[in-house]
Amino acid sequence: MDDQVFVLFGGSGDLAKRKIIPALYNLFLNDKLPHGFAILGLSRKSMTRESYQEFILSSIKEYSRHSSDDMGKTTTFIDHVYYLSFDACEPNDYQSLKTSLETIEENNYLPQNRIFYLSLAPDLFDQVALYLKEYSVTQSSGWCRLIIEKPFGHDMASASALNERISSAFQEHEVFRIDHYLGKEMVQNIEVLRFANSIFEPLWNNRYISNVQITSSELVGVEKRFDYYERAGALRDMVQNHMLQLLMMVAMEPPSRLNTEAVRDEKVKVLRSLRKFTSSDVTKHIVRGQYASGNMDKHSVVGYLDEMGIDPQSTTETFIAAKVFVDNFRWAGVPFFIRTGKRLDKKETKIVIEFKNLPERLYFNQNGKLLTNLLTIHVHPTEGISLQLNGKNPEQDGVVSPISIDFSQETKDLPESYERLIFDAMRNDSTFFTRWDEVKLAWKWIDPISQSFADGHPLYTYEAGSSGPKEADELIQTDGHTWW
Ligand code: BG6
Repeated sequence: MDDQVFVLFGGSGDLAKRKIIPALYNLFLNDKLPHGFAILGLSRKSMTRESYQEFILSSIKEYSRHSSDDMGKTTTFIDHVYYLSFDACEPNDYQSLKTSLETIEENNYLPQNRIFYLSLAPDLFDQVALYLKEYSVTQSSGWCRLIIEKPFGHDMASASALNERISSAFQEHEVFRIDHYLGKEMVQNIEVLRFANSIFEPLWNNRYISNVQITSSELVGVEKRFDYYERAGALRDMVQNHMLQLLMMVAMEPPSRLNTEAVRDEKVKVLRSLRKFTSSDVTKHIVRGQYASGNMDKHSVVGYLDEMGIDPQSTTETFIAAKVFVDNFRWAGVPFFIRTGKRLDKKETKIVIEFKNLPERLYFNQNGKLLTNLLTIHVHPTEGISLQLNGKNPEQDGVVSPISIDFSQETKDLPESYERLIFDAMRNDSTFFTRWDEVKLAWKWIDPISQSFADGHPLYTYEAGSSGPKEADELIQTDGHTWW
């Protein structure tokens, strides 16, 4: 990995504190940062370098894999940290940024390789990118890269406009759009499971798979992000990015090579094959919900409309269930059921592949049926896979019982999403970042759905702490299935 400077916009913010700084520190602990590196934190706060270093220390102590034995290493890491008080909207500050970078690079004998991480409000993304170019901060003798958080636009038009502005300052290969789900261990493992095991690939199609269920349920409510969430809702917040990414990983064809563009090309093809929804499809295939008050772990919680900062008339959805089709040769006729929501009964992300049943002729369980074979990819909180099979019941002849074969990753000290993704960006591997055509096609698919929502698609309520509106169960039951 090349020596480089990591410039952290929003350097004193919540994401920086909880995720980005701990990720950089963990990489350092694991000897994964280059020998020559510096971190330059930027924020509007007026702080000295020393007080920023204290902030970094508190973030490390609270959120990283730091232990008291690592104190020597921690001090060395902190010596690499610098700070500049900076207003992203103030052109003069870009001049100071350029000067600071040059000084840090010169004093530390670093090449002018610069990575800019925008942990900022999304409406600043394009402005910052343009100013970086206009004030020659990107004019370096080395390379420059830009890491951007979501959301990337609000619909296809705004995402295209944003992309156009960013691409006048950075080329596509220099832009790393983060979707933190792509940094999760088991999400990255889907490709390996599918393409490194001979037992799955022959079955991975509409001849043997009955349906696929992708669930990401959360315990938390809207929290303090009411401004953003009111405009986004579950559709834009979770489906446009994370849920579609999971779907792409399950549905993609094997890439011709294990290189970035080959993988991303295959994912894009899945988006191209997604069946577009007309407004009557939206009515039939999508259930949206909003949480009402309820009990979570014996505590009562308020409904969405009573949350701080939320319009009491709001029609923003906090839950979505959808039945989606990938219209290609492999998946013709196989429904993909997607489900995500806040204030549900558990925090869990998983993908269940349900196989078709054999003719029920020879073996049955106690109810006279054959249990379905399921392959479950557990993304969170456990990370692993389980395979549900039928086996002999030792006590009853001819009756079968479920057997589960389980594999669970040893999760202790496993790198977190941000750690994997920041490491990849630092070494210029954008495989697990979203390419512009992925973002664009995802919005293209989402836009008619948001239009139907705006036109008054029904919004059902569900009790906080439940598994979502009953209409979501009905959605899957009409096909004779049930949520696993
Ligand atoms: C974020 C969404 O992208 O993902 C949040 O903006 C959501 O609303 C979060 O809570 C879920 O991520 P995870 O990793 O906890 O499943």
